[in-house]
Amino acid sequence: MAAANSFGKAFIVTTFGESHGRCVGTLIDGCPAGLPLFEGDIQVELDKRVPRKPEITSGRIEKDVVEILSGVFEGHTTGAPICMLVWNREAVSSEYAVIKNLPRPGHADYPAHVKYRGFNDYRGGGRFSGRITVSLVMAGAVAKKLLQLFGVEVLAYTKAIGSVEMKETPTLEQIRKETYKNPVRCPDQAYAELMEKAIIEARREGDSLGGIVECIALNVPVGVGEPVFDALDADIAKAIFAVPAVKGVEFGAGFKVAAMKGSESNDPYATRDGKVITLTNNAGGVLGGLSNGMPIVVRVAIKPTPSIAKKQKTINLSELKDATLQVEGRHDPCIVPKAVPAIESMVAITITDHMIRAGIIPKVLARER
Ligand SMILES: Cc1cc2nc3c(=O)[nH]c(=O)nc-3n(C[C@H](O)[C@H](O)[C@H](O)COP(=O)(O)O)c2cc1C
Repeated sequence: MAAANSFGKAFIVTTFGESHGRCVGTLIDGCPAGLPLFEGDIQVELDKRVPRKPEITSGRIEKDVVEILSGVFEGHTTGAPICMLVWNREAVSSEYAVIKNLPRPGHADYPAHVKYRGFNDYRGGGRFSGRITVSLVMAGAVAKKLLQLFGVEVLAYTKAIGSVEMKETPTLEQIRKETYKNPVRCPDQAYAELMEKAIIEARREGDSLGGIVECIALNVPVGVGEPVFDALDADIAKAIFAVPAVKGVEFGAGFKVAAMKGSESNDPYATRDGKVITLTNNAGGVLGGLSNGMPIVVRVAIKPTPSIAKKQKTINLSELKDATLQVEGRHDPCIVPKAVPAIESMVAITITDHMIRAGIIPKVLARER
């Protein structure tokens, strides 16, 4: 049986580490040789993961510092596996003693305890913690740098938090320039303020909020994807579901297509400057599991953080009795802002894998002159 901590067939990303273990890391096998790569390239992306605003975060001071251990020599990837890690420094495991016996509703504690017969590292959620997104973002940083050489850009932003949803579609320039100017990662500053207020209010009530992240991949060449089982949309969805707390993924018009007529849902073709385009993008850039040259647009539903301060009903596992739980520890009242770079990373990793498989990205890059 294949191992379950690796993703991809040409650009193979394997992640390791637990929330309160020694480190979280990633191993990339199949990254082409000749990509200029420095720790700073990875660090910039890791820093995007942590909004520096204590009111809307867990309050953990997670300065995640990347170390590249292998696969890079004289500022370029060598074609050998790239191993990167971040040491865990901020873990306070004592806060988690209680959940060993009292599984948190909405978290993975209960099914993980049953499956692994209690051998799982439950501290901080262990392998089910949002901290595993550090590994995803490190691999995503490499993928994004590689894609950039081939003109492909992947952008993500917060579209909604709780009931506050951006009504207008932001321009690409707005997403590029404004998204990281606020702690909720929304490209519209007015909506960002409303979202921030909603998170602070939920936290005050001992509660949490979910939301929607939209991700857009630009300039993906036509025909990328390997139907039927490795369809591009299927692989993107699978990759995104590796991000904890993701509950739904839709492309283009998504679930709205169910109520449309064919004449409304079909994207009519046209030519512009000798290039084939579609006049609408209800397909979200994918037809038949292949990219069609239009932006790949994917929206992701993120659930509210399971660990909340409000009292909740649970069970005592050792006594097999009903119990109540009041979760302690440092938890994000909303996961969405931290999920933005993780989702961007998973889309970038999947497109990179498929572009290598398609032969569009070679195994050895041309030397720059
Ligand atoms: C970036 C990130 C941070 C997270 N932080 C927390 C947290 O502080 N507390 C918590 O209970 N869950 C947190 N989660 C969510 C849990 O990891 C997740 O809900 C749990 O593993 C169950 O998996 P599922 O929701 O995908 O079914 C976080 C998720 C992400 C992506």
